[in-house]
Amino acid sequence: MKGERHPKNDVTMNPSGNESIRDVIERTDLGRRHFMQTTISASVLAAIGGVNMKSIIGAVEAAPLPAGNGFAGIGFESVPPSLAPVADKVTVPAGYTVEVLASWGDPIMKRAPAWDEDASQDAAAQEKQFGMHNDGMHYFPISSHGIGHGRNPVRGLLCVNHEYTHEEILHGAEGLAGGAGVTIAKVRKSQAGHGISVVEVRKNRGKWQVIGTSPFGRRITGNTRMKISGPAAGHALMQSKKFDIQPTGSVEVGINDGYHCHGTLNNCANGYTPWGTYLTCEENWNGYFGWNSGESVDAADPNRAAILNDQARYGIVAGGFGYRWHEADPRFNAATNPLEPYLFGWVVEIDPFDPESKPVKRTAMGRFKHESAQVAVDGNSRVAFYMGDDERNEYIYKFVAAKRFNRHKRADNRNLLDKGTLYVARFTDMPGAGAETYRGEWIALEPDTTSVIPNGAGGYYKLRELPQFAGADDAEVQALILIKTRQAADAVGATMMDRPEWTALRTYYDPEFSFKGYSVYNDQRPLEIYCTLTNNNRRGGGGSTPATSSNKADGTTTAASARPPVDMANPRPDNDYGHIIRWREDGNVVTATGFEWDIFMLCGDSITAKTLGANYQSGNLVNGAAGTGPYYEGDIVDAPAGSADFGAPDGLWFDQFGRLWIQTDQAGDASGDWVNIGANIMACADPNTKEVRRFLTGPHKCEVTGVTSTPDGKTLFVGVQHPGEDSPASNPTQYSNWPQSQFTVNSAGQPLPNTPGLSRPRSSVLVITKDDGGIIGS
Ligand code: FEO
Ligand code: CA
Ligand code: CA
Repeated sequence: MKGERHPKNDVTMNPSGNESIRDVIERTDLGRRHFMQTTISASVLAAIGGVNMKSIIGAVEAAPLPAGNGFAGIGFESVPPSLAPVADKVTVPAGYTVEVLASWGDPIMKRAPAWDEDASQDAAAQEKQFGMHNDGMHYFPISSHGIGHGRNPVRGLLCVNHEYTHEEILHGAEGLAGGAGVTIAKVRKSQAGHGISVVEVRKNRGKWQVIGTSPFGRRITGNTRMKISGPAAGHALMQSKKFDIQPTGSVEVGINDGYHCHGTLNNCANGYTPWGTYLTCEENWNGYFGWNSGESVDAADPNRAAILNDQARYGIVAGGFGYRWHEADPRFNAATNPLEPYLFGWVVEIDPFDPESKPVKRTAMGRFKHESAQVAVDGNSRVAFYMGDDERNEYIYKFVAAKRFNRHKRADNRNLLDKGTLYVARFTDMPGAGAETYRGEWIALEPDTTSVIPNGAGGYYKLRELPQFAGADDAEVQALILIKTRQAADAVGATMMDRPEWTALRTYYDPEFSFKGYSVYNDQRPLEIYCTLTNNNRRGGGGSTPATSSNKADGTTTAASARPPVDMANPRPDNDYGHIIRWREDGNVVTATGFEWDIFMLCGDSITAKTLGANYQSGNLVNGAAGTGPYYEGDIVDAPAGSADFGAPDGLWFDQFGRLWIQTDQAGDASGDWVNIGANIMACADPNTKEVRRFLTGPHKCEVTGVTSTPDGKTLFVGVQHPGEDSPASNPTQYSNWPQSQFTVNSAGQPLPNTPGLSRPRSSVLVITKDDGGIIGS
C-alpha cells in the first residue's frame, strides 16, 4: 500500500529524445536468436543511443546462475526494466507464460454474479466476489481425499488477502464523494471489498481456473464474525460497543464480551502454519477509524488518557485515511466507540478447509501493524513466527509457541498460537563471529522483563511496574503488554527499523531430499531469516536535516514522529531505496534469545546522478564506518551491467529450491528516484552471492505483491495490486486499464469485459508457468 510514507519522487526524467536502453534491449531481446546470428556490427548497435555493446551482450546472453550451497541456481535471463512511459503490461522472461487467474470482482462462490465493469454492483455482490487490491496469499494443496494437506500440484485452495480498496474505482462513476456522498451502502461495499478470498483453483486440460461453484469458496470481510483468543481475549479494553451489522446500518445492541468481534482489515501480507491454516495480518487498520468535528472520547471515561495515548501511538486520527466509514458506520467512530481499535492489529488464523469455521484473532502474537508472519519449525519441533511492524521506526518481533508442533495430529495444534512468548529484536553493533556480522538479542515482552526506564534507585523498572501495564495480576499485565505491544517494545529499548515489511525463512535445496519446510538446520545450513526494510524518510540527522529523536521509552510517541539516528542495522540517512537484513538464530533453534545479523542487500540505483553524488547519503554507517557516499549491494545483471537495480523491497519469499524472490513497492511510474529502475518488479536472488535477476515487471502504477507456488514449483501465483493507482472516478482508466490492456481472456479462457468508458483497472492474481513444463526459476 502506498501513500504518504512512500519515497519522494523529486528527480526528473532525462528529457533527451535518445532511444532508451530499454528500447534497445527490448528489440535485441525480442529477436535475440536472430540478432546473435546476424552480422550487425557492434559499432552500429553501440551508436544507437550511445549504448555500450558489452552491456547489450551481457543482457541478452547472461549465463545461468550456478547452483550451490542449498541454492538451485537461476536459469532465466533478466527482463529489462520497464521505463517511462511504463507499458501497461506484465513482462516475464523468454520461455515463460503469464496469464490472469483471478481479478477483483470475479465470482468465487455459488450464486455470485459476474463482475460488472461499471462498478455499480452493491455490497451483497462484492461479498461473493474476489475482493479488491489483493496482497499476500498461500496455496494449500487439496489431497486426493478431497481435503487437507497433500502435495497436489493441480488442485488447491488459494487464500488471498485484500489489503485495501480504492474508493474512486470501487464506487462507479460517482466515486466516494459524488452522488449522495458517503452512504452506508458505499461503506458496506468497501468493507466487503476488504478481507480474504478463499478460492478453489484447478488445472484442467492445461488451463488454471477458479472453480466459481466450489463449496470451499468463501469471503471473509471487514464485517465477518470472528473469535478473539489468547492472553488479551476478554480484557476490559477489548469490550467495545456491540453492533448488529445490517446492510442499512450498524445498530448498537450492547457491549462485546471481548471474545468476539467483527471483521479483519488491511490484510497486507500473510503467513501459514504447518498444520494447514492460513494467517492474515492486519496492517494499516488505523486508517479506517475517524471521528466527526466536535467529537472526542468521553471525558468521564476512566481510561480516557490511556485510550488517547494508544490512539496516537498507533496513528489513529480524526480524518483516518479518507475512507470516511465513521460518517455512516458508528462502529468505526474512534471517539464514540474508542475501544473498537483494540480489536484490530492482530494476526488472524483461518482454516480454509472448513468454510463454517470462525476466523480467530490470536492475541499472543501481539498488536501492531502486522506485515507478515513467517513460520519456522526447528529440530525440536518448536514453532516460531517472525513478524515486522510496518511503520517508520517500528520493530521486528518473533512469537515462539510454548507447545511443540504435533505433525501427526492436526487437532493438537488448534490452539498452539494462544500460548507462547512474544519477543522484540534489538540489533547491536557488537561484532559477530563472521565478517561484517553483528550480534542481536530477542527481548521477551513479559511482566518481569526489565525496561530501560530508571527506577530512581539505581536500577530499572520491570514492565509490570510501569503504569501503562499495571494490572490486577500477572495475566492482566501480560494482556496489557500484548494490547500495547508497541509501548512495551518502546519500554525495553528495541531497535527502530526502516519500515519492516515481509520476513522469509531461508530454504535449502538438496536434490537428494525433498524439502519439508522445517528441521533442516545445522551448522552448515543455519536457521536464517530475511526481512525487507522498505524505506524510511525519517532517519538520520545533522547538517541541514532536523535533530534526531527516538521513540520514547514511556510509550507516548505519536506514530512515525521520531527521527532516529543511523545505526548499524539501519545505516542510511533518509533511506530512499530500502535494504534487506537477515539474521541467524543461535544454535539454529527458534527459542534462541541471541542471533547474529548482517545486511544482505542495500538497494539502490547505481547510475542516477543524484545517488552517485558525493553527498548522497553521506553519514551512512556501512561496514561499520561513517561513509561519505553511496554504497550498494545486489546487482541485477542487465545493461548497463549492474545498473538500474531496484528499490523499496517489500514482498519476500524463499521457494522450496533455495531461491529468494523479492517484490517491490514504489511509485511504479518510473519517475523521480525510479527513473532508471522503472516499474515495480519481482526479482530472484542468489542468497549466497547476492546476484539478482529481474523476473517480472508490472503494469503502470501497480505494486507487485503476494507470491506462492504449487508444491512441485511448476506453477507460480503472483499478485499485481492497484494498477493505475490514483485514477479518478471520472476517468478510471486514466493511468491503466490492466489486465484488459494486456489480455482478452483469463487463464481459463473466459473473456475479460473491456468496454471503453466503463472498464477499469483490476488488481489480479497471475499464474505463471514455464513453457517446457519445468520449475519456475530453473
Ligand atoms: Fe501493506 Fe507494508 O505493506
Ligand atoms: Ca508496502
Ligand atoms: Ca507489503
